[in-house]
Amino acid sequence: MSKTSKKPTNDFCPQTLFLYGTYDDEGRADFGLFCWFSYIWDGELGVMACFGGSKLTKENIHRRKVFSANLVTEKLLPLADYLGNTPGHSPEKMKLDIETEEGRVLPVPVLTASPVNYELEVKQFIPLKDGEVMLCSIRNVLQDDALVKEEVGSPEKLAAIAPVHTTCSRYFSWDGKNMGAWGEPMADLAKKP
Ligand SMILES: Cc1cc2nc3c(=O)[nH]c(=O)nc-3n(C[C@H](O)[C@H](O)[C@H](O)COP(=O)(O)O)c2cc1C
Repeated sequence: MSKTSKKPTNDFCPQTLFLYGTYDDEGRADFGLFCWFSYIWDGELGVMACFGGSKLTKENIHRRKVFSANLVTEKLLPLADYLGNTPGHSPEKMKLDIETEEGRVLPVPVLTASPVNYELEVKQFIPLKDGEVMLCSIRNVLQDDALVKEEVGSPEKLAAIAPVHTTCSRYFSWDGKNMGAWGEPMADLAKKP
């Protein structure tokens, strides 16, 4: 296989998307879209999350040390794209009808329509030059009841919830179909009555 050297890029390496839920200093829920999310092991499963630059989600986590991470599915994509392309400091951002509930273990806003939700507590902040990595313990995982049914296999369950992937600045469906460039799917949100 002949290959070409490139500058740092994660093109062609799909990632899973999550909406991080936090409360601001007045107790209002904020959600932002994130993909620099992965897992760590330290005697038990944990999570690492990387933030680039400044954003409301990061400020809120610094204040409260907790957040939720809500799996993004195809159904949630227009909303997720909007939340990833609208800064939390814009007063209009959260003037939307989003159904949320309180975490079962931590005081975090959880997105009801997302089938998998993590309740995360930051154990270590690792500041970098411009970004920051946070190492988190998973204090609770909420899964839609349909995902815990033993008589249905995981391939069928995954196909039913259809998590979205991202790479090459685009979104892809669970079965690999193009779902648009970053910033495009949110146009469908505006079309809803
Ligand atoms: C597809 C996609 C993935 C993103 N992933 C991250 C990420 O992993 N880390 C990050 O710092 N910002 C990421 N962002 C940017 C944030 O979603 C964006 O800054 C958002 O406005 C944050 O919302 P907030 O200001 O309410 O915190 C991503 C944006 C998009 C569109």
